[in-house]
Amino acid sequence: TVRRKTAPEIRARKGGEPIVMLTSYHAHTAALVDRHCDVILVGDSLGNVMHGFETTVPVTLEMMILQGCAVMRGSRQALVVVDMPFGCYEASKEQAFHAAVRILKETQCGAVKLEGGVRMAETVAFLSERGIPVMGHVGLTPQSINTLGSFRAQGRDEADWAAIESDAAAIAQAGAFSVVIEAVAEPLARKITQQIAIPTIGIGASAACDGQVLVLEDMLGLSPRAPKFVRRYGNLGPAIDEAVERYAADVRTRAFPAAEHVYGMKPKT
Ligand code: KIV
Ligand code: NA
Repeated sequence: TVRRKTAPEIRARKGGEPIVMLTSYHAHTAALVDRHCDVILVGDSLGNVMHGFETTVPVTLEMMILQGCAVMRGSRQALVVVDMPFGCYEASKEQAFHAAVRILKETQCGAVKLEGGVRMAETVAFLSERGIPVMGHVGLTPQSINTLGSFRAQGRDEADWAAIESDAAAIAQAGAFSVVIEAVAEPLARKITQQIAIPTIGIGASAACDGQVLVLEDMLGLSPRAPKFVRRYGNLGPAIDEAVERYAADVRTRAFPAAEHVYGMKPKT
C-alpha cells in the first residue's frame, strides 16, 4: 500500500520543488488528481461547482464531510485537505476545534483549511497544538464576500500590503503548515513567500509562490466562466456537450442501444 503524504512533509517543501495542488470533490476525479498531485483540496468551491451557489457562504459542514469521504476513498497518496465552511469555525477556537475534529474523524483526511489571517491566528495555534494540521488562506477570502462586496484582486495598492503581510505572518507564526494566497498582486505574493517560513500556495498569486492550486473544473474548461488567473488545460465543456448531443440523437433515432448493449434470454435447459 502507498503511504499518504503528510502535512509535515508539505511543510518541509518550503523553497523547494513547487507543491502541486488541485481541488476534487468526487472519488473518480480524486483518483485522477491523485496520480499527479501532492495535495488534493476538497474546497468549499464545491458550493459553486457542484451546487450552483453564487458564493461559498451557503456551504455546510455536512457537505464538506460527505465530499471529503468521497475524495479519501478515491485517492491513495496525496495529502487531502478539507475546507472548513463559513460559519463553522469563526465564533471561537473551541467551535473551530469541534468542527475540525468532526472533519478529521469522519473523513480521515490529513488537514483542514480555513480563511483569515490575524483574526484566525489564535484558532490556528489552538488547532495545530492539538493535533490538527491547518492550512491558512489569505488575500482574497471568498467566504467574506458579503463584507468585501466583490471578488477582486488584493494588494494592487501598496497601501494594502501591510495588512496582507501581517495576515500571512500571523498564520505562519501560529503554526499553520502552509498557506493559500488567493488573487494577490505578484510583488506582494513574492514578498510574503520570502518573508514567511511555511510554503505559500498561490491561486492568482504568481509563480513566485512555493506551490499552485486551481479549481479542477476551472482548469478543465468545465466551468461556464473562470477567473483571469485560470489557465484552461482542457476543454471538457464542449466535449461533454457534443457527447450528450450524440446520445440524445441516438436515443431519438433508436440507434442506441445497439445489439451489443442488450441482454438476451438464458438458453433453455
Ligand atoms: O475552495 C477552494 O477551491 C479553494 C481554492 C480555490 C484555494 O479554497
Ligand atoms: Na475555499
